[in-house]
Amino acid sequence: MDLICKLDGSTDVYGIFGYPVKHSKSPTFQTLFFQKTNINGIYVPFEVKPENLQLAVKSLRALNIKGVNVTIPHKEEVIKYVNDVSKEVMYIGASNTLVNIDGFIKAFNTDAFGFIKGLKQLEPELAGKKVLVLGAGGASRAIIYGLINENVEKIYIANRTPQRAEKIKEDFRKLHRFIDEVIEIINFNQVEDTLNEVDIIVNTTSVGLNEDDKPLFDYEKIKPEHTVVDIIYKKTPLLQAAEKKGCKWQDGLPMLIYQGMKAFELWTGKWPEVCYEEVKNIFIAD
Ligand code: ATR
Repeated sequence: MDLICKLDGSTDVYGIFGYPVKHSKSPTFQTLFFQKTNINGIYVPFEVKPENLQLAVKSLRALNIKGVNVTIPHKEEVIKYVNDVSKEVMYIGASNTLVNIDGFIKAFNTDAFGFIKGLKQLEPELAGKKVLVLGAGGASRAIIYGLINENVEKIYIANRTPQRAEKIKEDFRKLHRFIDEVIEIINFNQVEDTLNEVDIIVNTTSVGLNEDDKPLFDYEKIKPEHTVVDIIYKKTPLLQAAEKKGCKWQDGLPMLIYQGMKAFELWTGKWPEVCYEEVKNIFIAD
Protein backbone atom coordinates (compact mmCIF):
# COMPACT_ATOMS: atom_id res chain seq x y z
CA MET A 1 0.00 0.00 0.00
CA ASP A 2 1.21 3.48 -0.86
CA LEU A 3 1.73 5.38 2.39
CA ILE A 4 3.96 8.18 1.18
CA CYS A 5 3.16 11.53 2.85
CA LYS A 6 3.59 14.89 1.21
CA LEU A 7 6.03 16.70 3.48
CA ASP A 8 6.84 20.38 3.64
CA GLY A 9 8.01 22.97 6.14
CA SER A 10 4.70 23.01 7.99
CA THR A 11 4.33 19.24 8.46
CA ASP A 12 3.56 18.42 12.11
CA VAL A 13 5.57 15.55 13.57
CA TYR A 14 4.07 12.75 15.67
CA GLY A 15 5.37 9.33 16.58
CA ILE A 16 5.70 6.48 19.02
CA PHE A 17 8.22 5.85 21.81
CA GLY A 18 8.97 2.18 22.44
CA TYR A 19 11.81 -0.28 22.99
CA PRO A 20 11.64 -2.30 20.89
CA VAL A 21 9.42 -0.38 18.49
CA LYS A 22 9.95 -2.25 15.22
CA HIS A 23 6.92 -4.49 15.78
CA SER A 24 4.57 -1.51 16.20
CA LYS A 25 1.59 -1.31 13.89
CA SER A 26 0.84 2.29 14.82
CA PRO A 27 2.99 4.04 12.15
CA THR A 28 1.06 2.19 9.43
CA PHE A 29 -2.40 3.22 10.51
CA GLN A 30 -1.61 6.66 11.95
CA THR A 31 -0.03 7.58 8.60
CA LEU A 32 -3.23 6.50 6.90
CA PHE A 33 -5.26 8.66 9.32
CA PHE A 34 -3.19 11.74 8.39
CA GLN A 35 -3.61 11.04 4.69
CA LYS A 36 -7.34 10.38 4.80
CA THR A 37 -8.12 13.42 6.95
CA ASN A 38 -5.87 15.66 4.82
CA ILE A 39 -3.90 16.77 7.86
CA ASN A 40 -0.31 17.74 7.16
CA GLY A 41 1.34 15.39 9.63
CA ILE A 42 3.81 12.54 9.76
CA TYR A 43 4.04 9.71 12.30
CA VAL A 44 7.35 7.95 12.91
CA PRO A 45 8.73 5.23 15.21
CA PHE A 46 11.27 6.37 17.83
CA GLU A 47 13.32 3.62 19.43
CA VAL A 48 13.84 5.01 22.94
CA LYS A 49 15.97 3.06 25.40
CA PRO A 50 14.68 3.17 28.99
CA GLU A 51 17.64 5.26 30.16
CA ASN A 52 16.76 7.90 27.55
CA LEU A 53 13.05 8.22 28.25
CA GLN A 54 13.25 11.46 30.22
CA LEU A 55 15.42 13.03 27.54
CA ALA A 56 13.03 11.79 24.85
CA VAL A 57 10.08 13.52 26.57
CA LYS A 58 12.12 16.72 26.87
CA SER A 59 12.92 16.44 23.17
CA LEU A 60 9.21 16.74 22.37
CA ARG A 61 9.42 20.31 23.65
CA ALA A 62 12.78 21.02 22.03
CA LEU A 63 11.73 19.70 18.62
CA ASN A 64 8.07 20.76 18.82
CA ILE A 65 6.87 17.21 18.23
CA LYS A 66 3.10 17.54 18.67
CA GLY A 67 2.36 14.18 20.17
CA VAL A 68 3.48 10.61 20.63
CA ASN A 69 2.13 7.25 21.55
CA VAL A 70 4.02 5.41 24.25
CA THR A 71 4.42 1.67 24.33
CA ILE A 72 6.33 -1.08 26.12
CA PRO A 73 8.31 -0.62 28.34
CA HIS A 74 7.63 3.09 28.93
CA LYS A 75 3.90 3.35 29.64
CA GLU A 76 4.24 3.66 33.42
CA GLU A 77 7.60 5.39 33.67
CA VAL A 78 6.66 8.17 31.25
CA ILE A 79 4.16 9.67 33.70
CA LYS A 80 7.06 10.96 35.82
CA TYR A 81 8.22 13.27 33.07
CA VAL A 82 5.03 15.03 31.92
CA ASN A 83 3.38 18.27 33.09
CA ASP A 84 -0.07 16.83 33.67
CA VAL A 85 -2.01 13.57 33.57
CA SER A 86 -5.64 12.89 32.65
CA LYS A 87 -8.09 11.30 35.07
CA GLU A 88 -7.82 7.86 33.46
CA VAL A 89 -4.02 7.94 33.70
CA MET A 90 -4.29 8.70 37.41
CA TYR A 91 -6.33 5.54 37.91
CA ILE A 92 -4.70 3.25 35.35
CA GLY A 93 -1.18 4.33 36.29
CA ALA A 94 0.02 4.17 32.69
CA SER A 95 -0.12 6.38 29.62
CA ASN A 96 -0.06 5.47 25.93
CA THR A 97 -0.53 8.98 24.48
CA LEU A 98 1.23 12.29 25.09
CA VAL A 99 -0.07 15.60 23.77
CA ASN A 100 2.35 18.52 23.50
CA ILE A 101 0.70 21.93 23.50
CA ASP A 102 3.34 24.66 23.33
CA GLY A 103 5.70 22.67 25.54
CA PHE A 104 3.05 21.64 28.08
CA ILE A 105 2.87 17.86 27.91
CA LYS A 106 -0.20 16.00 29.09
CA ALA A 107 -0.44 12.22 29.38
CA PHE A 108 -3.59 10.34 28.37
CA ASN A 109 -4.55 6.68 28.20
CA THR A 110 -6.74 5.69 25.25
CA ASP A 111 -6.64 1.92 25.90
CA ALA A 112 -9.80 1.91 28.04
CA PHE A 113 -11.66 3.86 25.37
CA GLY A 114 -10.33 1.56 22.63
CA PHE A 115 -11.36 -1.58 24.45
CA ILE A 116 -14.87 -0.35 25.26
CA LYS A 117 -15.50 0.97 21.74
CA GLY A 118 -14.41 -2.41 20.33
CA LEU A 119 -16.50 -4.40 22.80
CA LYS A 120 -19.57 -2.30 21.97
CA GLN A 121 -19.49 -3.73 18.44
CA LEU A 122 -20.58 -6.98 20.09
CA GLU A 123 -22.34 -5.66 23.22
CA PRO A 124 -23.78 -2.20 22.60
CA GLU A 125 -25.19 -1.94 26.13
CA LEU A 126 -22.70 -2.79 28.87
CA ALA A 127 -24.54 -1.41 31.88
CA GLY A 128 -25.65 -4.26 34.14
CA LYS A 129 -23.43 -6.87 32.47
CA LYS A 130 -21.23 -9.30 34.40
CA VAL A 131 -17.68 -9.71 33.19
CA LEU A 132 -14.86 -12.15 33.87
CA VAL A 133 -11.44 -10.53 33.40
CA LEU A 134 -8.47 -12.90 33.16
CA GLY A 135 -5.27 -11.11 34.17
CA ALA A 136 -4.39 -8.09 36.29
CA GLY A 137 -1.50 -6.47 34.43
CA GLY A 138 -1.33 -3.07 32.76
CA ALA A 139 -3.86 -3.84 30.03
CA SER A 140 -6.27 -5.29 32.56
CA ARG A 141 -6.22 -2.08 34.62
CA ALA A 142 -7.26 -0.04 31.57
CA ILE A 143 -10.01 -2.50 30.69
CA ILE A 144 -11.38 -2.61 34.22
CA TYR A 145 -11.34 1.21 34.36
CA GLY A 146 -13.38 1.25 31.14
CA LEU A 147 -15.84 -1.38 32.36
CA ILE A 148 -16.46 0.43 35.66
CA ASN A 149 -17.19 3.64 33.78
CA GLU A 150 -19.75 1.76 31.68
CA ASN A 151 -21.55 0.72 34.86
CA VAL A 152 -21.16 -3.00 34.48
CA GLU A 153 -22.72 -4.81 37.41
CA LYS A 154 -19.89 -7.14 38.30
CA ILE A 155 -16.26 -7.76 37.42
CA TYR A 156 -14.62 -11.03 38.46
CA ILE A 157 -10.83 -10.81 38.23
CA ALA A 158 -8.66 -13.94 38.11
CA ASN A 159 -4.90 -13.52 38.13
CA ARG A 160 -1.96 -15.84 38.68
CA THR A 161 -0.65 -13.32 41.21
CA PRO A 162 -3.76 -12.37 43.24
CA GLN A 163 -2.01 -9.39 44.88
CA ARG A 164 -2.06 -7.55 41.55
CA ALA A 165 -5.84 -7.96 41.34
CA GLU A 166 -6.17 -6.75 44.96
CA LYS A 167 -4.09 -3.71 44.09
CA ILE A 168 -6.43 -2.82 41.19
CA LYS A 169 -9.41 -3.02 43.52
CA GLU A 170 -7.72 -0.77 46.08
CA ASP A 171 -6.57 1.72 43.46
CA PHE A 172 -10.11 1.94 42.03
CA ARG A 173 -11.80 2.46 45.38
CA LYS A 174 -12.32 6.16 44.71
CA LEU A 175 -13.70 5.46 41.23
CA HIS A 176 -16.77 3.59 42.49
CA ARG A 177 -18.55 3.96 45.81
CA PHE A 178 -19.38 0.26 45.96
CA ILE A 179 -16.16 -1.21 44.63
CA ASP A 180 -16.39 -4.20 47.02
CA GLU A 181 -19.65 -5.18 45.36
CA VAL A 182 -18.47 -4.55 41.80
CA ILE A 183 -15.07 -6.26 41.90
CA GLU A 184 -14.61 -9.81 43.14
CA ILE A 185 -11.22 -11.47 43.04
CA ILE A 186 -11.25 -15.18 42.32
CA ASN A 187 -8.70 -17.97 41.83
CA PHE A 188 -8.18 -19.70 38.51
CA ASN A 189 -9.73 -22.84 39.99
CA GLN A 190 -12.97 -20.87 40.55
CA VAL A 191 -13.14 -19.66 36.94
CA GLU A 192 -15.17 -22.57 35.57
CA ASP A 193 -17.90 -22.11 38.24
CA THR A 194 -17.90 -18.37 37.63
CA LEU A 195 -18.67 -18.90 33.94
CA ASN A 196 -22.32 -19.50 34.87
CA GLU A 197 -22.49 -16.00 36.36
CA VAL A 198 -20.99 -13.94 33.55
CA ASP A 199 -22.02 -12.51 30.18
CA ILE A 200 -18.58 -11.51 28.93
CA ILE A 201 -15.13 -13.14 29.19
CA VAL A 202 -12.01 -11.04 28.54
CA ASN A 203 -8.48 -12.40 28.35
CA THR A 204 -5.89 -9.74 29.12
CA THR A 205 -3.04 -12.17 29.85
CA SER A 206 -0.38 -13.16 27.35
CA VAL A 207 -1.59 -16.77 27.49
CA GLY A 208 -2.53 -17.81 23.94
CA LEU A 209 0.21 -15.84 22.21
CA ASN A 210 1.91 -19.18 21.66
CA GLU A 211 -0.27 -22.06 20.47
CA ASP A 212 1.25 -24.43 23.06
CA ASP A 213 0.51 -22.19 26.10
CA LYS A 214 -1.32 -24.09 28.81
CA PRO A 215 -4.99 -22.94 28.71
CA LEU A 216 -6.13 -20.72 31.60
CA PHE A 217 -9.16 -22.98 32.15
CA ASP A 218 -11.10 -25.64 30.23
CA TYR A 219 -12.33 -23.66 27.21
CA GLU A 220 -14.88 -26.43 26.52
CA LYS A 221 -16.87 -24.94 29.43
CA ILE A 222 -17.58 -21.74 27.48
CA LYS A 223 -21.27 -21.38 26.60
CA PRO A 224 -22.78 -20.08 23.33
CA GLU A 225 -24.32 -17.15 25.27
CA HIS A 226 -20.90 -15.83 26.28
CA THR A 227 -19.25 -12.93 24.49
CA VAL A 228 -15.52 -13.61 24.42
CA VAL A 229 -12.74 -11.07 23.84
CA ASP A 230 -9.01 -11.67 23.72
CA ILE A 231 -6.82 -8.58 23.50
CA ILE A 232 -4.15 -10.54 21.61
CA TYR A 233 -4.34 -9.71 17.87
CA LYS A 234 -5.01 -13.22 16.63
CA LYS A 235 -7.46 -16.07 16.93
CA THR A 236 -6.09 -17.61 20.11
CA PRO A 237 -7.15 -21.07 21.35
CA LEU A 238 -9.63 -19.24 23.63
CA LEU A 239 -11.20 -17.50 20.63
CA GLN A 240 -11.12 -20.69 18.56
CA ALA A 241 -13.11 -22.40 21.31
CA ALA A 242 -15.55 -19.46 21.50
CA GLU A 243 -16.09 -19.55 17.74
CA LYS A 244 -16.69 -23.30 17.84
CA LYS A 245 -19.36 -22.80 20.51
CA GLY A 246 -21.09 -20.15 18.41
CA CYS A 247 -20.24 -17.26 20.75
CA LYS A 248 -19.82 -13.64 19.72
CA TRP A 249 -16.06 -13.10 19.84
CA GLN A 250 -13.40 -10.52 19.06
CA ASP A 251 -9.60 -10.37 19.02
CA GLY A 252 -7.44 -7.37 19.99
CA LEU A 253 -7.61 -5.60 16.64
CA PRO A 254 -10.64 -3.35 17.29
CA MET A 255 -9.09 -2.20 20.60
CA LEU A 256 -5.79 -1.49 18.84
CA ILE A 257 -7.40 0.55 16.07
CA TYR A 258 -9.75 2.50 18.35
CA GLN A 259 -7.04 3.38 20.88
CA GLY A 260 -5.09 4.78 17.95
CA MET A 261 -8.08 6.69 16.59
CA LYS A 262 -8.64 8.27 20.00
CA ALA A 263 -4.98 9.33 20.20
CA PHE A 264 -5.30 10.83 16.72
CA GLU A 265 -8.42 12.71 17.83
CA LEU A 266 -6.60 14.05 20.91
CA TRP A 267 -3.84 15.38 18.67
CA THR A 268 -5.84 16.73 15.76
CA GLY A 269 -9.47 17.08 16.87
CA LYS A 270 -10.49 14.78 13.97
CA TRP A 271 -12.04 11.32 14.32
CA PRO A 272 -10.73 9.18 11.42
CA GLU A 273 -13.77 6.88 11.19
CA VAL A 274 -13.40 6.45 7.42
CA CYS A 275 -10.21 4.50 8.03
CA TYR A 276 -11.57 1.81 10.36
CA GLU A 277 -12.42 -0.87 7.79
CA GLU A 278 -9.36 -0.12 5.68
CA VAL A 279 -7.01 -0.48 8.66
CA LYS A 280 -8.73 -3.67 9.74
CA ASN A 281 -8.30 -5.14 6.28
CA ILE A 282 -4.61 -4.18 6.15
CA PHE A 283 -3.94 -6.11 9.35
CA ILE A 284 -6.14 -9.06 8.50
CA ALA A 285 -4.22 -9.42 5.21
CA ASP A 286 -0.89 -9.20 7.10
P1 ATR B 1 0.14 -6.09 29.98
O1 ATR B 1 0.56 -4.66 30.10
O2 ATR B 1 0.11 -6.60 28.56
O3 ATR B 1 -1.11 -6.39 30.71
P2 ATR B 1 1.67 -7.29 32.14
O4 ATR B 1 1.42 -6.09 33.00
O5 ATR B 1 3.02 -7.91 32.11
O6 ATR B 1 1.35 -6.96 30.61
O7 ATR B 1 0.57 -8.40 32.51
C1 ATR B 1 0.59 -9.67 31.97
C2 ATR B 1 -0.60 -10.46 32.50
O8 ATR B 1 -0.56 -11.79 31.97
C3 ATR B 1 -0.60 -10.61 34.02
O9 ATR B 1 -1.92 -10.69 34.47
C4 ATR B 1 0.14 -11.94 34.20
O10 ATR B 1 -0.12 -12.58 35.41
P3 ATR B 1 0.80 -12.21 36.71
O11 ATR B 1 0.30 -10.89 37.20
O12 ATR B 1 0.55 -13.32 37.66
O13 ATR B 1 2.22 -12.15 36.20
C5 ATR B 1 -0.49 -12.71 33.06
N1 ATR B 1 0.27 -13.90 32.67
C6 ATR B 1 1.40 -13.93 31.93
N2 ATR B 1 1.79 -15.20 31.74
C7 ATR B 1 0.88 -16.01 32.38
C8 ATR B 1 0.70 -17.42 32.55
N3 ATR B 1 1.56 -18.27 32.01
N4 ATR B 1 -0.36 -17.85 33.24
C9 ATR B 1 -1.25 -16.98 33.78
N5 ATR B 1 -1.15 -15.63 33.65
C10 ATR B 1 -0.10 -15.14 32.96
